[in-house]
Amino acid sequence: MSPAIGTTLDRVDGRAKVSGTARYTAELVLPGLVHAVLVGARVASGRIVAIDTGAAQRADGLIAVLTHLNLPKIPGTPKLLPSLAGMAAPGQSYFPMQDDVVHYAGQPVAIVVADTVERAEHAASLLRVDYEETPAKTTLDQVRDQAYEPERIFGGMLPGRVVRGDVEAGLGQATDRVDVTYRFAANHQNPIEPSASTVVWDDAHRLTVYDSTQGPTATQLTVATLLGISPTQIKVVSEFVGGSFGSKAMIWPHVTLAALAARQVERPVRLSLSREQMFHSCGHREEQEQHVTLGVDAGGRLTALRHHKLSITSYFDDWAETSLQSPGILYRTPNYEGIYRIAKGNTITPTFMRGPGEATGIFALECAVDELAERIGVDPIELRLRNFADTDPTSGHPWSSNGIRECFQRGADLFGWAGRDPNPGSRREGRTLIGWGVAASAYPHVAPPNPQRARARLYSDGSAVVEAGVSEFGTGVTTAMTQVAADGLGLPVERVRFVGGGSDLPNITAAVGSAGTGAVSAAVHLAATQLRDQLVGRAVADEQSPLHGADPGAVSVEDGRMRLRDRPDVGETYAEMLSRQFTPDVETLGVWTPPPPDPGYGLHTFGAQFAEVAVDADLGLIRVRRMVGVFAPGRVLNRKTAHSQLMGGMLWGLSHALLEASWMDARLGRWANPSFGDYLIPVNSDVPDVVVDTIEVTDTVVNPLGVKGVGEIGIVGSGAAIANAVHHATGRRVRHLPITVEDLL
Ligand code: MOS
Repeated sequence: MSPAIGTTLDRVDGRAKVSGTARYTAELVLPGLVHAVLVGARVASGRIVAIDTGAAQRADGLIAVLTHLNLPKIPGTPKLLPSLAGMAAPGQSYFPMQDDVVHYAGQPVAIVVADTVERAEHAASLLRVDYEETPAKTTLDQVRDQAYEPERIFGGMLPGRVVRGDVEAGLGQATDRVDVTYRFAANHQNPIEPSASTVVWDDAHRLTVYDSTQGPTATQLTVATLLGISPTQIKVVSEFVGGSFGSKAMIWPHVTLAALAARQVERPVRLSLSREQMFHSCGHREEQEQHVTLGVDAGGRLTALRHHKLSITSYFDDWAETSLQSPGILYRTPNYEGIYRIAKGNTITPTFMRGPGEATGIFALECAVDELAERIGVDPIELRLRNFADTDPTSGHPWSSNGIRECFQRGADLFGWAGRDPNPGSRREGRTLIGWGVAASAYPHVAPPNPQRARARLYSDGSAVVEAGVSEFGTGVTTAMTQVAADGLGLPVERVRFVGGGSDLPNITAAVGSAGTGAVSAAVHLAATQLRDQLVGRAVADEQSPLHGADPGAVSVEDGRMRLRDRPDVGETYAEMLSRQFTPDVETLGVWTPPPPDPGYGLHTFGAQFAEVAVDADLGLIRVRRMVGVFAPGRVLNRKTAHSQLMGGMLWGLSHALLEASWMDARLGRWANPSFGDYLIPVNSDVPDVVVDTIEVTDTVVNPLGVKGVGEIGIVGSGAAIANAVHHATGRRVRHLPITVEDLL
């Protein structure tokens, strides 16, 4: 029996998904279910002065209209904490509908409940809310003069400033420098499935929340905190989630509002956000700019790196996506300064969006490095190879694993980088300008701060169930964990069922920051191997077993059969043993304690990105013709799902570079393009030939299987490779995203 890990096993939930039997939160049919619709504030700043509910109250099917005047206040205090901490994770430290103040457009001001969703929407449209409007600030330009340097960002988990050496001195030693500012439009995650919560109160004290969430436990703890009840009173179910990309990592107010509404109307309530509401209710990647200064000596070695970020946040939270982590460790430079500055505006608190932070941070850095390479006349790959940090610059520790040089080497071969004419505009095909670009990719490896658990149970028929409270939001975790459990137990994958999707299952951190697969696989691997050891222990202790008295270390399990490693004919199956022992099942809990915050190694994932673009010289149209990405994400559990994650990430980077933008209407203080009609994302015809490859690096530090994760790394650097290719094609350096036709005309 060959190992299941590393194979291309098809998604075990694929059939359920394509046949429609996989049920999502908004599809649940429950007896007595009624429908709630959120009404968001029309203005971005001000006060509610009057709410006329008369017409809505008279609408057909109306059950309740809830506003700050009649909704019970929440007893709990929201506290911003990244869901990774495995704790309550409100999306912001402000909870709406407690008073008449409006802080941002779309802030919930009323909940309308009716017997059908259509009737609830109609009644909601009849509601009249009058505001006393005050001037709102919603763009970076409107608030930049009030920017300040926060002591800590990211729910207090990271410092607002990191300094090593003396940047001014380092720049003084430089023979050349670049000093550039890159600007980024705000972005929204736009998962296919909008967020939805279905809430059932079993009685006045216990409720079940079906929620579209990246972390069932995070939902459980957040709703418990806000309602002022015990987590024991809340069960969260979240089996299938239709994409998230960070929008469902924090637990936003609508979930708790649905619970409050359900308690108020004493019926099960479904609350689904509309596509437009998704733009106002679940955070976003904030509008930002980044200033990068690089100094280099005559040998092409970096003498200094200064990286400042300025972004807009809400009035409640010092949130900035963490753009400076990977850029701060990629290169060896004695003098480094990374500083976040933020300014408060009338927006919801920004949040994670796929490749959170590093996608913009590496974009700015890797475009600046490309500018520097051109300036000093050194090949951009060569310049990087001269400067990559071979130890972690923040701590001086060795990397737990790295692989970036190998990624560049293989990527350059696959792409055919050799022989590139460095001169911009040097390659033409008729009216089309061809350009090649390259960029490094990096993403921090995040170890969850608390133990991770999974349960494994083997039945007397020789099949196993393995459980952990993670939700499947399209990453393939169910499939990969089936493989991990099968190998740990010595079973074929067909005999293993992985069950996730609920807070009643062993607690696993929310799947965020590319940390999900590492954390879950660690717990699942421990549970499965512990259970195997227990079963082998039972066999060698059992006088009726052919393995009686054997050294457990000399026993291996293949295809569900325990046997002596050097005498495979001596042995018996799990099923034979348990039947004889009148034992219906054997179960164990695997508890994995992640490495401490400073494990003595730098933990980071690396890769290399290449792109070829074709630009229409007359029309400015950019087509990406080829992309190559090579990554070193540690152990790859399933080659097919991992490569599809990486490919999806690379295309997300394409989208980030050329298409995506949430435009703020500064006059109205709200997003101007909150729909799939107006928020551009790539379609199949925008997507080029994409080559994805992985370098398998061995990592014995991060977790038992050496898994570093593939969720974000594909995005990071792919936008920069494209922007650098656009410059190579045209000679134009566009220093903002997205790069559009207008920029090249
Ligand atoms: Mo992921 S964008 O870290 O939820």
